[in-house]
Amino acid sequence: MKKSRILIVEDENLVARDLHNMVRTIGYEITDVVRTGEEVFASVNRKRPDLVLMDIVLRGKLDGISVAAVLWEEYSIPVVYITSFADDLTFERAKLTEPFGYLIKPFDERELELTIETALYKARMQLLLKEKEQWLSTILKSIGDGIIAVNSGGLVSFINPLAQKITGWSEQEALGKKLEEIFTLKDNLSEKHLKSLTATEEVLLVARNCQEIPIEMTSSPIPESTGTGTGRVIVFRDISARKQAEKEIEESRHRLQRALQGTIQAISTTIEMRDPYTAGHQRRVAKLAEAIGRELGMPEARLKGLKLSAEIHDIGKIYVPSEILSKPTKLTELEYTIIKTHPQAGYEILQNIEFPWPVAEIVLQHHERIDGSGYPRGLKGEEILPEARILAVADVVEAMASHRPYRPAFGIDRALEEIKLNRGRLYGSDEVDACVRLIEEKGFSLD
Ligand SMILES: [Fe+2]
Ligand SMILES: [Fe+2]
Repeated sequence: MKKSRILIVEDENLVARDLHNMVRTIGYEITDVVRTGEEVFASVNRKRPDLVLMDIVLRGKLDGISVAAVLWEEYSIPVVYITSFADDLTFERAKLTEPFGYLIKPFDERELELTIETALYKARMQLLLKEKEQWLSTILKSIGDGIIAVNSGGLVSFINPLAQKITGWSEQEALGKKLEEIFTLKDNLSEKHLKSLTATEEVLLVARNCQEIPIEMTSSPIPESTGTGTGRVIVFRDISARKQAEKEIEESRHRLQRALQGTIQAISTTIEMRDPYTAGHQRRVAKLAEAIGRELGMPEARLKGLKLSAEIHDIGKIYVPSEILSKPTKLTELEYTIIKTHPQAGYEILQNIEFPWPVAEIVLQHHERIDGSGYPRGLKGEEILPEARILAVADVVEAMASHRPYRPAFGIDRALEEIKLNRGRLYGSDEVDACVRLIEEKGFSLD
């Protein structure tokens, strides 16, 4: 092991020589023997000893106790005092500096070695602790969260710079105050609630200037070494910017949705202007389809897509000459073939628009039938999207219930008869049952 290096400070020559011999006999290296406080610093600066053995009473302007304080504070060098008498006052003062050890004359080599080793060990431990504290304190100060620690009495024992900035309370003002005084929450989390708050919670903090700041916080217990109780550490961050951004995204989403709704409305009106006999058809189909979807337990987000698809499901009729659409007599085979192109035409119009739902596909499938007899692709049962199966039922019911250029309205009863008759063959059983329930039992009306 490396020999420890010792500086001896003693103004009496005889004593100094004795001490020098003892220290060397034990096996330590002596860096210097000096007489006054002033000489101590000159020597320490040059030779950096590991420990200073020093008479508590020195000649010169600086006494041993003040020198020891500076040695520890600024150089991290421990001092062992040597004295031939111990008056109470001197010892009281000595205790105020770091007391690493005392030796009262006379003492032997064993005592000297034990005191020096203990002092060196103590100094090492204290430096380690100091280093750890500095390390921790640097982390806590530079961290991007506000941190407040309270002791078991509920008094603030630590507040980092960010917490000071957010709350508006400086460290000096905050330390020793009750937590509630500097950390006021809008909806007053109860003490009990705060204690068990280990998951992140969003709350409103009322800062010193009464400004309300949305924060995200956790509160965790810190066990105290005395075992008498627990302190707590509160970690929080200002989430105003995030909240603002969320609000803006939400607003822009709403604006987009309104714009989309407006556009769909415009398209729907355009088709119906060419085809006045079916005016309102898509709107009424949409209302019924949405109700059937809800009756079947379809989630709200999906219902929106269903309703929107229904509102424009006949958009492809824009390719059908209006003479055919408004022809008051029965359609010829050819005219009917032309009409039957409208789901495909609708699909082509809509396929490149990025809806959050499969709108083009729903429109394409609205004339498909469960048994595969529908068009354009002759899909069967589950191959048809649930939205399209619902739309098919709503479409037929509305069409039959209303007046058409080539025939008067059959009325709602005939419409229901038609879907009941073809339940499970042309139309999905669940969709038919839901539609019948709505109209016959729940008083649903198309208008
Ligand atoms: Fe259609
Ligand atoms: Fe239709």
